[in-house]
Amino acid sequence: MERVVTGEELEDDGVVDNTIRPEVLDEYIGQSEVKENIRVFIEASKIRGEVLDHVLLYGPPGLGKTTLAFIIARELGVNIKTASGPSIEKSGDLAAILSTLEPGDVLFIDEIHRMPRFIEEILYPAMEDFTLDIIIGGEGSSRSIKIDLPPFTLVGATTRVGDLSAPLRDRFGIISKLKFYTTEELTEIIKRTSRVLDMPIDDEAAVELAKRSRGTPRIANRLFKRVRDFALVDKKESIDLEVMEKALDRLKVGKSGLDETDHQLLRAIIERFNGGPVGIDALASSIGEETSTIEDVIEPYLLQEGYLKRTSRGRMVTEKAYKELNINYQGGLFSLDIE
Ligand code: ADE
Repeated sequence: MERVVTGEELEDDGVVDNTIRPEVLDEYIGQSEVKENIRVFIEASKIRGEVLDHVLLYGPPGLGKTTLAFIIARELGVNIKTASGPSIEKSGDLAAILSTLEPGDVLFIDEIHRMPRFIEEILYPAMEDFTLDIIIGGEGSSRSIKIDLPPFTLVGATTRVGDLSAPLRDRFGIISKLKFYTTEELTEIIKRTSRVLDMPIDDEAAVELAKRSRGTPRIANRLFKRVRDFALVDKKESIDLEVMEKALDRLKVGKSGLDETDHQLLRAIIERFNGGPVGIDALASSIGEETSTIEDVIEPYLLQEGYLKRTSRGRMVTEKAYKELNINYQGGLFSLDIE
């Protein structure tokens, strides 16, 4: 079964995402520090009559980086052009996008860490001086020409800020980290989605759904959609605790919001590596996931919620992980061995 509680974008998120996405800062719930700072920077740039400094948004998938980029453009009253790191393969791809920009526009590059390094180098002068240095011709007759670009704001989004080169990172004036949402914030988001999609949800069902959304609005909204299907088929006019529980049981989303992939990872550390520490690569091959998927998608929430610890010798599970899996925790195992 497709993993429902991943923060990564799934194919059928799209249509609903676009209708339930907040469009202005006042509608954006949570991330209050980031939001209030960006509000000030936007206002200051308007007062000064200059473009907003380049913005880098980073954090685990599904926390609203793309949403925020669209809101920034909307609040600035400019157009947004979008691209993603892996889709920019040649210098011409970047040049083509940059040449469509109008003064003040936002250029949003998702997964900016996946852009090839030599493309990053073309971005430096574009970001710094709004010029494009391109080399034309080749084989002895090549020359470099400079093209002026209109001033613009680059908004980059990444799940792996550490993968950006230092020179690229340094060219962002505003660097903001998005955090996992609290249950209260997710409850508010779920209620907002319920209003937008015109499917009422009881307070207690909303809170319970929020608790099971791994701190991630994209997951909360995705689960809401699926629960709504169950309610519709059961001919319910609103989502109550009963239909919510039923739907989430079917989707195998437990009380804590952890799913089978999370359980598989924690169980592997306990059963195959004695609770850890285990190196990330050994762990990845043991559960058949990419190292980067573990680092970017699976483990951030497990770390934050204290199921997992990162030590200099690798990942270790905590007592909370044993509880989650209903495995007897024998913290004093080694002293028992001595007896
Ligand atoms: N939908 C997705 N993210 C959201 C957020 N931060 N606030 C409101 N609605 C959202």
